[in-house]
Amino acid sequence: MGFLKILLIFIFCSFPWPSIQSDLETYIVHVESPESLISTQSSLMVLESYYLSFLPKSTTGISSSGNEEPASLIYSYHNVMKGFAARLTTLQLKEMKKKPGFVSAQPQEILSLQTTHTPSFLGLQQNMGLWKDSNYGKGVIIGIIDSGILPDHPSFSDVGMPSSPAKWKGVCESNFTNKCNNKLIGARSYQLANGSPIDDDGHGTHTASTAAGAFVNGANVYGNANGTAAGVAPFAHIAIYRVCNSDGCADTDILAAMDAAIDDGVDILSVSLGGSRTNPFHSNSIALGAYSATERGILVSCSAGNNGPFSGSVGNAAPWILTVGASTHDRKIKATVKLGNGEAFEGESAYKPKISNSTFFTLFDAGKNAGDEFETPYCGPGSLTDPAIKGKIVICLGGGGIAHVDKGQAVKDVGGVGMIVINQPSHGIIKAADPHVLPAMDVSYADGSKILAYMNSTLNPVATITFQGTIIGDKNAPIVASFSSRGPSEASPGILKPDIIGPGVNILAAWPTSVDDNKNTKSTFNIISGTSMSCPHLSGVAALLKSAHPDWSPAAIKSAMMTTTDILNLANSPILDERLVHADIFAIGAGHVNPSRAHDPGLIYDTPFEDYLPYLCGLKYTNRQVGNLLQRKVNCSEVKSIPQAQLNYPSFSIFGLGSTPQTYTRTVTNVGDPTSSYKVEIVSPKGVALKVEPSELNFSQLNQKLTYQVTFSKTTNSSNPEAVEGFLKWTSNKHSVRSPISVVLV
Ligand SMILES: *[C@@H]1O[C@H](CO)[C@@H](O)[C@H](O)[C@H]1NC(C)=O
Ligand SMILES: *[C@@H]1O[C@H](CO)[C@@H](O)[C@H](O)[C@H]1NC(C)=O
Ligand SMILES: *[C@@H]1O[C@H](CO)[C@@H](O)[C@H](O)[C@H]1NC(C)=O
Ligand SMILES: *[C@@H]1O[C@H](CO)[C@@H](O)[C@H](O)[C@H]1NC(C)=O
Ligand SMILES: *[C@@H]1O[C@H](CO)[C@@H](O)[C@H](O)[C@H]1NC(C)=O
Ligand SMILES: *[C@@H]1O[C@H](CO)[C@@H](O)[C@H](O)[C@H]1NC(C)=O
Ligand SMILES: *[C@@H]1O[C@H](CO)[C@@H](O)[C@H](O)[C@H]1NC(C)=O
Repeated sequence: MGFLKILLIFIFCSFPWPSIQSDLETYIVHVESPESLISTQSSLMVLESYYLSFLPKSTTGISSSGNEEPASLIYSYHNVMKGFAARLTTLQLKEMKKKPGFVSAQPQEILSLQTTHTPSFLGLQQNMGLWKDSNYGKGVIIGIIDSGILPDHPSFSDVGMPSSPAKWKGVCESNFTNKCNNKLIGARSYQLANGSPIDDDGHGTHTASTAAGAFVNGANVYGNANGTAAGVAPFAHIAIYRVCNSDGCADTDILAAMDAAIDDGVDILSVSLGGSRTNPFHSNSIALGAYSATERGILVSCSAGNNGPFSGSVGNAAPWILTVGASTHDRKIKATVKLGNGEAFEGESAYKPKISNSTFFTLFDAGKNAGDEFETPYCGPGSLTDPAIKGKIVICLGGGGIAHVDKGQAVKDVGGVGMIVINQPSHGIIKAADPHVLPAMDVSYADGSKILAYMNSTLNPVATITFQGTIIGDKNAPIVASFSSRGPSEASPGILKPDIIGPGVNILAAWPTSVDDNKNTKSTFNIISGTSMSCPHLSGVAALLKSAHPDWSPAAIKSAMMTTTDILNLANSPILDERLVHADIFAIGAGHVNPSRAHDPGLIYDTPFEDYLPYLCGLKYTNRQVGNLLQRKVNCSEVKSIPQAQLNYPSFSIFGLGSTPQTYTRTVTNVGDPTSSYKVEIVSPKGVALKVEPSELNFSQLNQKLTYQVTFSKTTNSSNPEAVEGFLKWTSNKHSVRSPISVVLV
């Protein structure tokens, strides 16, 4: 079992455990809270000793190797759940299960950082309008749960930053204190991180600077995408919680980080991590931690996952989470391959030679090289052995679990002079502008097939790669990234997910090391892609909105972003996906974030926190499972449960509309002009009739709430496994508040 193997590797890398064979595992254990402890927030000691009472005494801890292993408590959680993380043998677990108050135990899960090695991007989408009104996010604290941070990077300079807000209770780890400043106000690390918040991967430095990095002039990779780098909320404070090393992130650590972040006083949590996406929310650690965070007024922004373009692949899909998909940006770092027959194909690359060399070189297909059939066509490290590669441009296949930059290194190591990566068919036109170590670029599968056909047609196929550098103004942007995970959500299909998309392809942001031989600067950047990159963009926007509207709840901020999105691209056509066809609702959710418009949404759909109980009961979770999330005893038979689509959410997902019409209500809050009048505009999904009552909403004061009803009825006899799409929009003379609608007909 792959999972077990990974777990053991962590155990042996991280701790000096004496035994070689052990069935010790880390578990997350839920326990009931005795009534006496419920209200005593102050007595953490009491709570911990209660947790400790569940640990079996050492004599029962005989591991499979025969060694005695004392059971040990790793974390006592107090905000995110009633329970703890502990290392236990199977026998110890058995023993623990007998204790009164035990609820459940699940083995620790290792989650991954959600960056992909495939596509490409450059630069940040900056929005000056909201920057002014929000003071660039001043006073807001963004907690980043990730692989750590490189504190000395200029992106984390605190020039011009006010000191940390009074509500801040977090810390900088003892040997890290002098690394913190008014920008980076907190840094903690957990088990897997091995005692240091220092980022040796790059991911956390990149995401932190994307959300709230300072202005840095002359940011570039090989001179490409040169300009002033800045996070989306450049004056927001950063608190870093390191839970990952380069191999992954343990959910026990993530829970501990969220537990601390809630106490510390962060306003926004940015979580670019993902695990098993189909877990129901009660046993999904990020969903669990995010629930408690949201209850305390913290907005949790998460990556949707990099499992696209396949249907049903979206993760981090709890309704209290902002689930962020990824799309392209209007800049490209262009490279061109020209073949001996005159054909030319465009690709992307962050490589830039010092002197442009347009000499033609012979092409060499790595797949034709004698070698490992699983590694060689993908140019895996060490898999290329044919001496004939020397002096040639090598064709490699994308994928195979090997980063494009590593493929290039493998080619360079055996004397290749260049590389063309042919992307996988599913990536469509999405390309990666990677910082290659030799002249290299990637092309789409379609163009790659033409290159292979040319090679097949001639005895001496030749080509040249040239680099055009940064080009701004791609009218097709934003295009949904191939890798961006798609809905519907398996965990809760009645909530439309992802919620929103933002820039996540070829994002230039801070990096701990130089990727382009630029050794004499501390200002190092990298260009990478993933929903990990789009998530901190949205975290940054949320910080700006929080700063401009301190009284808005997490659900209100989310609603403001979702009802004001762009659904057209720069060419004024509907947003496209990686195939260059109209992107569907499960790819874009509400659409592409538009920070300026989110600043002034007119109306918001606030989700009262109490509504999650009837929603969770409606998901048919057991009392115990709902209790795990709410941290109190729940009896769903005494709760008037609601269908998922009844939650006061800014979008609609009707998952199964038969011959019986379905009616849902929504309540909107006026945050625009005190006196304002809205009329509804409806675009019904095909085969569905929509009736909205009332069709007009007249407000007479600020924060006034009005309720409307929507009835969905089927107008066709056929069922349709594909969802049909529409929207409803409330429009006043100043605002337009749009809710996307997805309906599956049965
Ligand atoms: C901080 O201390 C821990 C152990 O106490 C050590 O492993 C880690 O390397 C230290 N970090 C730094 C930045 O010195
Ligand atoms: C980046 O742009 C700045 C300002 O325009 C310029 O001074 C600098 O030389 C440029 N750097 C590179 C590597 O092109
Ligand atoms: C291009 O590269 C080849 C091989 O390294 C070299 O022989 C040639 O002189 C170079 N041409 C230019 C214009 O630099
Ligand atoms: C290469 O040519 C052979 C014979 O002409 C043909 O069967 C094969 O399909 C071609 N392969 C490609 C990739 O075009
Ligand atoms: C839950 O409520 C129902 C209805 O009031 C009751 O019959 C049942 O015993 C309760 N269950 C528990 C575990 O309290
Ligand atoms: C809303 O106000 C308009 C005039 O401003 C009025 O014509 C309309 O009847 C009102 N609608 C409702 C539902 O009160
Ligand atoms: C649906 O089926 C009924 C009975 O089979 C038929 O009378 C009706 O015309 C059909 N409606 C549509 C919209 O096809």
